[in-house]
Amino acid sequence: MASPLEKKAKRTAQPIGQATPGQLLDWYDRHARDLPWRISPRARKNGIKADPYRVWLSEIMLQQTTVKTVGPYFLKFLELWPTVDNLAAAPSQEVMSAWAGLGYYSRARNLHACAKIVADELGGAFPRTEEDLLKLPGIGPYTAAAVAAIAFDEPAAVMDGNVERVVSRLFAIDTPLPAAKPEIRDRLTTLVPKNRLGDFAQATMDLGATLCSPKKPACSLCPWTDGCMAHRLGIAETLPVKPAKKAKPTRYGAAFWLTDTKGHVLLRTRPPKGLLGGMDEVPGGEWSENVSTANERAAPLKTKWQQLPGTVRHVFTHFALELTVYTAQTKVRGKTEGVWVPLDALAQRALPTVMRKVVAHADPAVAKQFKKKA
Ligand code: ADE
Repeated sequence: MASPLEKKAKRTAQPIGQATPGQLLDWYDRHARDLPWRISPRARKNGIKADPYRVWLSEIMLQQTTVKTVGPYFLKFLELWPTVDNLAAAPSQEVMSAWAGLGYYSRARNLHACAKIVADELGGAFPRTEEDLLKLPGIGPYTAAAVAAIAFDEPAAVMDGNVERVVSRLFAIDTPLPAAKPEIRDRLTTLVPKNRLGDFAQATMDLGATLCSPKKPACSLCPWTDGCMAHRLGIAETLPVKPAKKAKPTRYGAAFWLTDTKGHVLLRTRPPKGLLGGMDEVPGGEWSENVSTANERAAPLKTKWQQLPGTVRHVFTHFALELTVYTAQTKVRGKTEGVWVPLDALAQRALPTVMRKVVAHADPAVAKQFKKKA
């Protein structure tokens, strides 16, 4: 199934070199990134095996989150819970709190649910195959392939965004994403070697994350340049073809920073399902596309609220949120839903980034404690 670009490339004078897994693995031996969850290629060759718990933990954290952000969280989790049994036995509020700031909080709930299944039903051992890994909560096709390959050297085509870019360029696949994915996967499968499956998976990720970058790929340094059809055609920067971006709607809401006279603030826990499920929040009302929802009507208490100037903005996957913050201090706590938390203990709570922004807006001095944490 040669694409028009491929046909064009084939008509050109010199034969195109063939990209081989060996070329990439040689490059990886010299240039593998030093990452906290990674067993270096040298150590792997010396027989050091990856710990499936660490591989799984890192891959869950790395879903939708950058390597740089994940590093400190990964190390903190390992310090708190060195094994899957330890993590399974942890109270869920502690897991959510340790995750706070990483975003996409359903990952933390699924992480904990998965740890419990592995610890309680599988004797603490992660399954080896993609098929069995896929049965566990929070493990989708990408993560199943990554854990099978990196933890167990099972044959699997591990395809994240970086790898999609590398392969779509290598074969000059100009079908727009996401329609191009099956074709990219087929091509990647032809490259997967028989040995060093974990190294190969990580090498393709590293190539995409370093040399084969979206805007200015460093083709002259790439181990696959000779075999890269997009490079040959001079179109590497244009691939993969992305779908047109949809504009994100803005939703509006209010957040109520209510303190008592003894240095506590009122927090609530969000319902377990849905956006930011199970996380703590500064009480607020409904978030809607109607700006008039950003008023005092949803306040947890009738008192003299002061509206702070400016708003807190946070961008989620499908919408941007703009929160108006109201503050008040009350002498009488009254009947309010939620918990009163000491102001100096907020870093121990499961406050997502948007709520940390609310804290910083309401009281910058109180927000200083978040810096020390992650
Ligand atoms: N992104 C996701 N998983 C990764 C890994 N194991 N190494 C490097 N980057 C990654």
